Amino acid sequence: MNKLLNAQNTGVPLTIIEKSTYSAWQSQQTQCTQTWLAQTNFSGDGLALIPHFSAKLQGELAQALFVVNDISHYFACGDLINKLPTGQYLLKADSQYYSAICFSWLMGAYQFSPYKTNNTEKKLPSLALENEQTIVDKAIKYAQATALVRDLVNTPASDMMPINLADSATYLADSFGGEVKQVIGDQLLEHNYPTIHAVGRASTNSPRLIDLTWGDKNHPKVTLVGKGVCFDSGGLDLKPAAGMRNMKKDMGGSAHVLGLARLIMSHKLPINLRVLIPAVENAVSSNAMRPGDVITTRKGLTVEIDNTDAEGRLVLCDALCEASQDKPELIIDFATLTGAMRVALGTELPGFFSTNDQVAQDITAAGSKITDPVWRMPLYAPYNDLFKSTLADMTNCSAGPFGGAITAALYLQKFIEYDVDWVHFDVMAFNVRALSGRPLGGEAFGIRAVFDYLQSRYQQ
Ligand code: BES
Ligand code: MN
Ligand code: ZN
Repeated sequence: MNKLLNAQNTGVPLTIIEKSTYSAWQSQQTQCTQTWLAQTNFSGDGLALIPHFSAKLQGELAQALFVVNDISHYFACGDLINKLPTGQYLLKADSQYYSAICFSWLMGAYQFSPYKTNNTEKKLPSLALENEQTIVDKAIKYAQATALVRDLVNTPASDMMPINLADSATYLADSFGGEVKQVIGDQLLEHNYPTIHAVGRASTNSPRLIDLTWGDKNHPKVTLVGKGVCFDSGGLDLKPAAGMRNMKKDMGGSAHVLGLARLIMSHKLPINLRVLIPAVENAVSSNAMRPGDVITTRKGLTVEIDNTDAEGRLVLCDALCEASQDKPELIIDFATLTGAMRVALGTELPGFFSTNDQVAQDITAAGSKITDPVWRMPLYAPYNDLFKSTLADMTNCSAGPFGGAITAALYLQKFIEYDVDWVHFDVMAFNVRALSGRPLGGEAFGIRAVFDYLQSRYQQ
């Protein structure tokens, strides 16, 4: 990414403005430029390439203009890097928008092509921001974290099983001086993670709990937990084909917490970080957990399996129990937990729940500021009645079809012990339509919002 963005002071001037200021900009140009814009039918929207008109430089590119709707939007320039001819451009824009421009410039370059045989690297232009090394570095960190999330989600399940997820976590930890421990296969039973084991035992790919730690033990402890269901077939309650098609993305929550961890570690945020990832494949086999089975969870609560496809909350409940017993200041989990959340908010707006109103408000505000929108949903306690089981303490999902994202969150809440602030994100982790700078496939939702919140809370 360093090749695509730098803090040099050379390049063809590239002006980026909003539509509302186009006519003022245009009226300040030379007569030749104004004529060129008129003759090329430039509508005052998108990209204009303007040549030199002097005898000496005739025809060479003199400047570029990019006109956008909302320049503060973090994906406003998501198409730009693919539209401009190669070469270096020197940014001319209102400096308060530099971060948004740089991030979207970089995200436009994202592509996932390791499985294409004609994988030749496309030559792309570079963008220079004179003397703005800090902004450049930060944009690269944001883009690298987002690309990490996308890559992990996009990788086919056959190459992104629990062991591969653990390798990715280890690689990330090694790059920043963190440490990874794992509890693998039957060790999950010895270490009292029975629910993770029950979900993952039917797969030939051993289930595991990945435990990453980083930072100074004296700093405030923040624990991230990510759903790492490397493929969700539904289990014995098998999903129909359409519902199973994209279930390689069911480790999206773990991809999100690794992306967020990358942001935290690369910025050296003064926190004592722990990342817990219960990683499993929800597979079908003769030893798979069955509907009607009862599992005693790590917390000791007994859960009757009503539906084996509600497996995310099962693996998360043991991880969240461990996370809270460790008494951090804050627990944040990310999970592709329910289809119901997508029914409620669509695929592009992640819903989240929080036990702390101030934290919820601050995360929402951070998200609007950085165009990473998030929407708070209620932990509506009366729905706790919907988990009644005739033989165990509770079932793993409500019997009815309504309020599925809320009931899933309420299920998780039962496993948060002590008075720990808890935030739970239910995310899509996938673009089902392509938008500027956001191709089809894996996507990060909410990690920039949460990181900015953490930064304002923990960085003096
Ligand atoms: N991984 C799915 C949820 C999901 C599906 C997220 C599609 C995003 C897009 C989860 O494990 C699941 O299957 N949930 C069930 C729960 C139900 C059985 C209570 C669902 O949402 O249908
Ligand atoms: Mn499922
Ligand atoms: Zn799932």
